[in-house]
Amino acid sequence: MAKAIGVFDSGVGGLTVVKELIRQMPEENIVYFGDTARVPYGIKSKETVIRFSIENILFLLKEDVKLVCVACNTVSSMALPSIRNYFKVPMVGVISPGAKEAVYATKNKKIGVIGTQATIRSRAYENEIKALDAAIKVIARACPLFVPFAEEGWLKERAVFDVAKFYLAPFKKAGIDTLILGCTHYPLLKPVIQEVMGSRVTLIDSAKQVATEVKQLLATGDLLESNKKAVRDFYVSDDPAWFSGLAERFLGQKIERVSKVSTA
Ligand code: DGL
Repeated sequence: MAKAIGVFDSGVGGLTVVKELIRQMPEENIVYFGDTARVPYGIKSKETVIRFSIENILFLLKEDVKLVCVACNTVSSMALPSIRNYFKVPMVGVISPGAKEAVYATKNKKIGVIGTQATIRSRAYENEIKALDAAIKVIARACPLFVPFAEEGWLKERAVFDVAKFYLAPFKKAGIDTLILGCTHYPLLKPVIQEVMGSRVTLIDSAKQVATEVKQLLATGDLLESNKKAVRDFYVSDDPAWFSGLAERFLGQKIERVSKVSTA
C-alpha cells in the first residue's frame, strides 16, 4: 500500500490540520495519532513534551509514514527544534507556516499570538516572526480555557464571549491588525474571536499553510500519491468513543475507524 502522511497531536485538535490536508490532497493516505490519554500537553514541561513526541513519532514510523506533520503548536514550539535532528523522515510543524502567513498579512506591524501556556512561554512564534522582520511588534498571551470550550462544543455561548473579551483585551488595546491562533483547538472558536477582535483584524489559522508546505515537500521528494480510494486511519491512546464523538466537530466529517494503541 502507498505510504501515508503521518500526523500527530496531543488529542483531537490536530484534526483541524487533517481537514486541510484532505482538502488539498484528497488522494493521500493519512495515519493520525491523538495522544488522548496524556492530553493536554500545553501545561507540561519541555522534557515531558519531548518524550511524548518521540514516542508518538516512533509509532507513526512503525506505520511506515513518508512524512510527519506535527499538528500541535505545543509540540512544534517546544519539542520539534530538538527532535527533528534525530529522525530522517521529513517533518513539518505549525509554527513557521503560521508566522510566515502573519508577517505577510500585517500592515501595521503589530501581531498578536494566542496559544497554550507552553507555546507562549517558548516564544517560538515571536522568534520566528522577528527573524522574518525584526521591526514587527509581537504581543502574546496564553488562553488555556479556550481548549476545554472547544472540546465541550461551547462555541457561541455567553461564557465563551466573556472569557474571550477578557483574554483578548490587551490585543485590542495594543491595536494589533493580525492575530495568530496558535493552538489547533482555536479555529473552532474563530467566530467568537473575530467578533471580539472586530472585522479589521486578520485571524491566522496555520492549517492551510501547513498543508501547502506538506504538499510542496512531498512534491519536491516526488512522494505525492494518487490513491483513488485514500485510506485514513485514526489511532488514539485512550477511549476511541470520546475521540469519535468530538472528531466530527474538528474534522467536519464522521470518522469510521478509530483504534486504541499505546505508544509509551
Ligand atoms: N494541541 C495543543 C496545541 O495545539 C492544544 C492542546 C494541549 O494542550 O495539548 O497546542
